[in-house]
Amino acid sequence: SRIAAAADLGDLRRLARKRAPRMVFDYVDGAAEDERSMARAVEAFERVEFAPRVLRNVAQAPTSVEILGRRISMPVVLGPTGFTRMMHREGEPAVARAAEKAGIPYTLSTMGTTTAGAVAAAAPGGWNWFQLYVVRDRARNLDTLSLASEAGMDVLVVTVDVPVAGARLRDVRHGLTIPPSLRWRGVLETSRHPAWWFDYLTSEPLRFATVEGAPPDLAGLTNMLFDPSVTIEDLEWIRSAWRGRLLVKGVQRVDDAKELAAVGVDGLVVSNHGGRQLDRSPTPLELLPEVVEAVGDRAEVYLDGGVRSGADVAAAVALGARACFVGRAYLYGLMAGGEPGVTRVLDLLRAELVRTMQLLGVNGVEGLTPDAVRLRGR
Ligand code: FNR
Repeated sequence: SRIAAAADLGDLRRLARKRAPRMVFDYVDGAAEDERSMARAVEAFERVEFAPRVLRNVAQAPTSVEILGRRISMPVVLGPTGFTRMMHREGEPAVARAAEKAGIPYTLSTMGTTTAGAVAAAAPGGWNWFQLYVVRDRARNLDTLSLASEAGMDVLVVTVDVPVAGARLRDVRHGLTIPPSLRWRGVLETSRHPAWWFDYLTSEPLRFATVEGAPPDLAGLTNMLFDPSVTIEDLEWIRSAWRGRLLVKGVQRVDDAKELAAVGVDGLVVSNHGGRQLDRSPTPLELLPEVVEAVGDRAEVYLDGGVRSGADVAAAVALGARACFVGRAYLYGLMAGGEPGVTRVLDLLRAELVRTMQLLGVNGVEGLTPDAVRLRGR
């Protein structure tokens, strides 16, 4: 199949672009404003220069690592993404199953289109995490957390970089509504992607978190639903209400990282939301070593943003990340071909990580240390 023939994630991205309607692809592929943050995140990985050791026995290069007290098969976490059933009718359950089979965590978003219970039922043996956006109705947050907890989710990722919606201009220009409406670009668009539209119109309507009177565009919904007044006190409130592990996603400064480490979070995700929020925000791969230096002894530090290959994962881990979150990478696979597409992405990431380690003269993830990587042009 074309999924099996994809040689890298770029091939899967191109396939996704053919299969999904343009506005759906652009919702995934796009970012905020002039998309500089996103471009820089990717460009930072392009500047990676590896320093390979030779004549080390690299017959074996196992990829497993321990995070939050548990072994996973490779240092990759499938990050939270909203409206995943819009990308492909199989949606979150397909992604969770692919993660379960690959032995890595999957994070369900507050803005997901599948309930926590249904994700747990689809991937009962998986390590399923939950991501929280704090909504204005505070009691509702606790209900959301209870549902996640009842579904066995024991890691909470609180995303803190969306006080208000970023300006995703591709969505604005397409007039994207959630759920997408068939009137959009009409018959021409439909005829270009008949399989997607057939699937979409014959599957269950998208269910997602919303609020009375919410407008049909994502930014409008976000701004009505999410609470922009959240502070670190609220995080302490969540800390006390949540019994499991707690990560904060969207950390973009060293001083914030220190403040968060001091309130007892288990980990921090250095992230600018894949460039979908504040444009020209710090580039995750560049900021990572400073955050690791400042709080790495107190909190696990993760990298999120721009990961498009297993070599990128190797570079981020070498620069101090416990693991990488990925977003678009698995969504390209999902759009290209449902669960097998996501599995193909994870197989590619793993094969690329193993090969990179072997060529680097490293025989396990622990061997990925800062001396293995230099960022050119710094
Ligand atoms: C996201 N992201 C995101 N993050 C989050 O905390 N909650 C969410 O609901 C979403 N939704 C979402 C939808 C889509 C389509 C994308 C592409 C991203 C951000 C995501 O978790 C992650 O931070 C970025 O995707 C990382 O950048 P890369 O890996 O896509 O380059």
